[in-house]
Amino acid sequence: MLDLRPQIYYNCRREQNFPPRLRCFFCFGGAWFEVYESMFYIAGTGSALPEKVVSNDDLAQFLDTSDEWIFTRTGIRRRHVLTHERLDDLAILSARRALEDAHTEGKDVDLILCATMRGDTFTPSLACTVAEAIGSHAPAFDLNAACVGVLYAMEIADSFIGTGKAETVLIVSAEAMSKLVDWSDRSTCVLFGDGSGAMVVKKGEGRLAGVLTSDPDSHVIRMPNIEGLNSPYNQIEQEKLAMYMDGGEVYKFAVNAMGHRIEEVCARANLSPADIDWYLPHQANVRIIDASLKKYKIDKSKVLLNISECGNMSATSVMVLLDEYAKKGTFKKGDKLLFVAFGGGLTSGAVIINWNKE
Ligand code: UT7
Repeated sequence: MLDLRPQIYYNCRREQNFPPRLRCFFCFGGAWFEVYESMFYIAGTGSALPEKVVSNDDLAQFLDTSDEWIFTRTGIRRRHVLTHERLDDLAILSARRALEDAHTEGKDVDLILCATMRGDTFTPSLACTVAEAIGSHAPAFDLNAACVGVLYAMEIADSFIGTGKAETVLIVSAEAMSKLVDWSDRSTCVLFGDGSGAMVVKKGEGRLAGVLTSDPDSHVIRMPNIEGLNSPYNQIEQEKLAMYMDGGEVYKFAVNAMGHRIEEVCARANLSPADIDWYLPHQANVRIIDASLKKYKIDKSKVLLNISECGNMSATSVMVLLDEYAKKGTFKKGDKLLFVAFGGGLTSGAVIINWNKE
């Protein structure tokens, strides 16, 4: 579990954010070496998508849009949409698949984290619903960092494992974007899809570095919450219950944020962007992905995509991407995977892990 990386000592001290957990440092041959502790590796992955696939042409049946507009502006061809399924059921299925892949039973999980903007119910949380289904009594809670939720969850898992509070963490993401958008608003509803993904992370060598941020802005992406009924006191008018998004502003933020997070997380791991074997970017728009990676001149074959088939599934995007390519056998033991995402809030983050599965 010890990760030995040479690093100039004073550089680490100058970092604005917290440096990775430092075990000790020593001087050898005139250079300072630091010994870090790596807290988790990915032991298993799973995913589950709704049965119904909706193409751009299907949308053009009832919206003033076209396959040509959607594909050239975003890279999306199709998305999965919930019809008869509950989001809970997808989350449970993806969690079970990840547990099976990790050869782990529900009772052996020490913490369950669900990244979601809105589960089927506010309470119980989606995490508790999953806990019940897999027979776990571990602490379980949902967290909302919009599309960056899984990266926030990975960093929380790292902290729980690092402080000895957990050894095995189940991270699930599940998003029912089709229930958040206004299906008459062509500028938002064509972008999103529904789905769920999961991973089991365990104490051991894997995670190399992580960085999370927020650049708070309550206007550019906004999804109002539902309210109770018949309050004689509430004087505030209920906002329109559908997602609002200023696409252009989000686009500018996204390109900047993804580029910066890549730089920061690579610096923390003492790597250059060229050292990364696989990029798993949030799947919001192929143009955003291309623009944010452009200056690093990264070989396009290292950048994993599934946006054409799934659209933007918010927090779930990177999870489904990970599971898809893991199951295809794309990753080899020791490969460096970089996750990077941005989303409502506005949030952003990046995590680098060494792939540790055979
Ligand atoms: O997970 C984070 C979530 N959000 C995002 O990642 C969104 C980031 N933003 C984007 O991906 C892009 O800004 C969009 C894909 C949303 C929009 O692309 P754009 O190139 O910025 O287009 P635009 O908003 O400038 O719109 C261009 C035109 C407008 O018409 P006018 O005003 O030029 O006549 C829109 O009304 O395209 C029109 N338009 C559409 N036309 C056909 C907007 N949506 C559609 C549509 N079909 N679905």
